[in-house]
Amino acid sequence: MEVVVAKTAGFCFGVERAVNQVYCQIEQGVKPIYTLGPIIHNEEVVRDLEEKGVRVLASPEELDAVKEGTVIIRSHGVGKSVYDRIEKRGLCLVDATCPFVKKIHEIVVKQNEEGRRVIIIGDEAHPEVEGIKGWGDERTLVVKTEEQVDHLPLYPGEKLCIVSQTTFNYNKFKDLVEKFSKKGYDIITLNTICNATQERQVEAEHIASQVEAMIVIGGRNSSNTRKLYEICQKECKNTYYIQTLDDLDPESVNSVRSVGITAGASTPKKIIEEVHTNVRAIKRV
Ligand code: F3S
Repeated sequence: MEVVVAKTAGFCFGVERAVNQVYCQIEQGVKPIYTLGPIIHNEEVVRDLEEKGVRVLASPEELDAVKEGTVIIRSHGVGKSVYDRIEKRGLCLVDATCPFVKKIHEIVVKQNEEGRRVIIIGDEAHPEVEGIKGWGDERTLVVKTEEQVDHLPLYPGEKLCIVSQTTFNYNKFKDLVEKFSKKGYDIITLNTICNATQERQVEAEHIASQVEAMIVIGGRNSSNTRKLYEICQKECKNTYYIQTLDDLDPESVNSVRSVGITAGASTPKKIIEEVHTNVRAIKRV
C-alpha cells in the first residue's frame, strides 16, 4: 500500500511557538502557570501540560480569582480588555499570540483610527475572531456567509476594511469579498489568511485527489482540521477524521491501494508518525 504523508501536516509555526513557550516556562520553574483556554486544540498535549501543573482558565472572567502567577495567552490571541484585566490583577504575562494574528490586531486598530469599519470574515464564535473583534471599535462586524452580507447595517459608500480569520477557507473568503465589492462600499481588503493554512489545504486537496483513502488527524474542536476534512472529502469519498490512532478502523483502509495522511495545525508530530507507521503495517485484503 502506498502511504503519502503531507509535508505540511501538523503544528504550524504559531502553535509550535506557543506550545514551546509553555514548556519553556515549566522548565524555568515558573509557578503557577495558567493558560487562557487550552494552549492548543489537542487533548493529549493539554493533559500533559496539566500533569506538569499548568492550569487552564476557561474564560477571562476566571482571571479575577487568580491572585498570583503567570498567564500565557495562546496563539489565537485575545482582545485588548483581556490584557487590561491581566495587568490590573498584577499578573505576569507571556504573550504567545501568533505574530500573524498580532498583525491583524494592529491592522484593526490602525484602520479604526483611520475611520474605517472593520469587517472580519470568519466564525464569530472562534476565539481568534473574538480576540480580533476585541481590538476593534463598536462598529466591527463578523461575517461568515454570503446571505449575511445582504443584511448588514452598512450605508452606501461606507469605508470598510475587510480582514480574515487566519484559518478561513480562501475560496469562501474570495466569494465574500466579491459580494461586498458589488455593493458599492469603499473597501480595503487585506487577505490575512495564514499561508500555513493555505499550504496545508492545497497539499491536502492535492493528495486527496490522488489516493483511494484519506486520513485527517486532529482534535474534535479544531476548526482548521474540520476544514481540512471538508476539503479532502470533496476529492476523496473515503476520508476519515480521527483524533488519534485509536479512532482508526483498520478495515476502512485495508482494501485500498493508496492512503493519504494529513493533520491539523494542533496535531503533534508523534501522533502523525504513529498513524503513519500503523497504516503502513496494515495488510491489504
Ligand atoms: Fe499562526 Fe498561521 Fe498557525 S496564523 S497560529 S502560523 S495557522
